[in-house]
Amino acid sequence: MNLLQHVRSLFAPVLTEVAPDLLKVPDYLGMVKPSSNADNGDYQANMAMAMGKALGQKPPDVAKAIIAALPANDVIDTPTVAGPGFINLKLKDTWLAAQVRNIATDPKLGVEPCPKPKTFVIDLSGPNVAKPLHVGHLRSTIIGDSLVRILRFLGHTVVGDNHLGDWGLQFGILIHGYKNFRDDAAFKADPVRELARLYVAINKMFKKEGDEEDGPTDDLIKKVCQEETAKLHAGDPENVALWKQFMPACLEMLRPIYERLDVKIDHALGESFYNPMLAGVVADMLAKGLAFESKGAVVIPNAKGIIPQNEEEQKKEEPPAILRKRDGAFTYTTTDLATIKHRAETWKPDAMLYVVGAPQALHFKTIFAQARRWGYDQSAYEHVQFGSMLDKDRKPFGARKGGVIELMSLLDDAARLGLEKYESSVAERRANGHQVLELDAAEKAVIAEVIGVGAVKYADLSQSRTTDYVFDLDKMTATVGNTATYMQYAYARCRAIFREGDIDVTPFRTNPPTVILGHPAERALALQLLRFPEAVEAAAADYVPHLISAYLWDLAKCYSGFYENCKVLKAETPELKESRLLLVDLVGRVIKQALDLLGIRTVERM
Ligand code: ARG
Repeated sequence: MNLLQHVRSLFAPVLTEVAPDLLKVPDYLGMVKPSSNADNGDYQANMAMAMGKALGQKPPDVAKAIIAALPANDVIDTPTVAGPGFINLKLKDTWLAAQVRNIATDPKLGVEPCPKPKTFVIDLSGPNVAKPLHVGHLRSTIIGDSLVRILRFLGHTVVGDNHLGDWGLQFGILIHGYKNFRDDAAFKADPVRELARLYVAINKMFKKEGDEEDGPTDDLIKKVCQEETAKLHAGDPENVALWKQFMPACLEMLRPIYERLDVKIDHALGESFYNPMLAGVVADMLAKGLAFESKGAVVIPNAKGIIPQNEEEQKKEEPPAILRKRDGAFTYTTTDLATIKHRAETWKPDAMLYVVGAPQALHFKTIFAQARRWGYDQSAYEHVQFGSMLDKDRKPFGARKGGVIELMSLLDDAARLGLEKYESSVAERRANGHQVLELDAAEKAVIAEVIGVGAVKYADLSQSRTTDYVFDLDKMTATVGNTATYMQYAYARCRAIFREGDIDVTPFRTNPPTVILGHPAERALALQLLRFPEAVEAAAADYVPHLISAYLWDLAKCYSGFYENCKVLKAETPELKESRLLLVDLVGRVIKQALDLLGIRTVERM
C-alpha cells in the first residue's frame, strides 16, 4: 500500500463535503504531504490555506471543518491544527503495527502492482561499439537498468533496447586500419585487442579533433576512413564482410562490462539494424509532406514544425534536422525515426523512454515531434536525460581516457578501494572489542566486487539524475554515510542478527508475530518500512531512481536509531524480541529489494 495515497484517500470525501464547488481545479489532495518535521506528526494536510482563500474563509476555520468532517477511522489519530491552518496527522500505532505485520508476508513488501500496467520501451546504454566507451554511456546503462527494474517491479511490461552505435565512422576507421596496418598474428590471437589497437592508432593520425564525425574534412586520413564508411553503407561486399567479421569482437569488448555491472539488456538493435529501412523512411516522409528537399539534402522541420527560411528566423528558431545529406548519406536522425517506427510497430508501447545525456535534448525534441506528425502518436515519448560526470576539478570525467579498458580498471579501482576501506573498518571494529567474522579470500573477493561496483552505481543513482556529479572514488567507497557499502553492510547486519541468535527467518515471513511499537525508534522504523511503496512509485512516476536511494538513506538512519535504542536478541520480553526480530528481518528485506531496484547486489555476510 502506498501510505501517502492511503492518507490522501481518507481526505477525498471530506474535501468534497467541505467545499464541493472548489474541487475541480486545484489539487488539494496533493497538499497532503509527509510531515516536514517528524515532531509535528507523520503527514500534514496543507490545503486549508489555499481553500480558505478560495472560499473567503479563515484557514484555521476551514482546517477545523475538515477535521470535523473526517469520519472516524482506525488509521489516523484525531488531527490537530497548527500555525496558519496546517493539519497535523499522526498514524495510529495499532494501525502501523498491523500494516507492518501485513507486509511481512508479502514478497513485494507492500508494493502493489500498478492497476493499469503499461508497456515501456527503454532506450539505454547505446555505446558506440569499437570505440572507447564514453562515461555518458555508463550513466545511461546504470540509470536505464534501474528504470527497467523499477518499472518491472511495479508490474509494467518493459522492453530494454540497447541502440548500439554499430554503423558509424568508427568502422571506417577499423576497416582502413585493418586493410593497411593490421598485425595478422595479433588479430588471430586476440581480435578484440588488435581492433582496439587499430582504432586508437588510426584515430591518433587524425589531425583535427572535434570535427563533426562524418562532416566535411580536409584531413586526408579521416577522409579515407569516411570513404570506407560510405562504402560500407552502400553495401560494398568487402567492407560489409569486414564489418561482419569485426562485430563479434566489438560486442565481445562490451560483454564483460555488462556482466560486471550485472546489466541484462533484452534487445540490442543497433544502428546497423535500421540501415535497410532508412531509404523507405525518407521516401515516406517526403511523400507525406513531412520532409522537404533543401539544397540537395532532405530535411525535417524543427519541433515547432518550422524550417527557418532566412537569417532572422535562423537566429530565433531551432534548426531543422537532416534526414539525407547531399552525398546521399543518412543520419542519426533518420535512424532514430526508423527506430521509433520499428518500436511502435513491434511492441506497441505506451511510452518510449530515452536514457541519454542532456546534450542530445534538441535531437530528441525534434524527432519526437516529427514522429507524432508522422502518425506515431500513440506512444508517449520522454527524453530521460542526465547530467555529466565530472572529475574532481569539475572537468568532464575521463575526457581523454574513459575507454572500455579504462572503465574496467576503474571498476577494479573501486573494488580495491572498497575492500581496503571495508577491511580497515573491520579492523577498527575489532579494536573496539566487537566480534567480527573471519572471511576467506574467496568471500573477500566477492565482497570487493559487490561493494566496488555497488559504489559506482550508488554514487550515480543517489544524485538527482539531471545534475552533473563529481566522480570521486574515495567518497563513493566510504563505509559510512549515504553509500552503497553502508547499505550493504546494514543488510549484512540484519542477517547477522539471525545468525548470531541461530534463528530461522521463515516463520517471520509466513506467520509473523504481533508487532509492538513501544519505543519511538521502533515506531519511526515501522513507519519508514511502510513508506517503501511511496518511494518506489514516486521514483517510477518521474523516472528518478534517486528517490529510492534517498529512501534507503532515511531507512538506514531509522535503523541505526532503532539499533542504538532497542535490544533485539536480549529484548526485555520474548514478545518484544519476536517483534523486533520481525522489524530487523523487514529492514534487511527492504534494503535488499531497494538495492536490487538500483541494480546493486548484496552479500549475506560482511
Ligand atoms: N550512440 C549514441 C551516442 O553515443 C547514443 C544512442 C542513444 N539512443 C538513441 N536512440 N539515439 O550518442
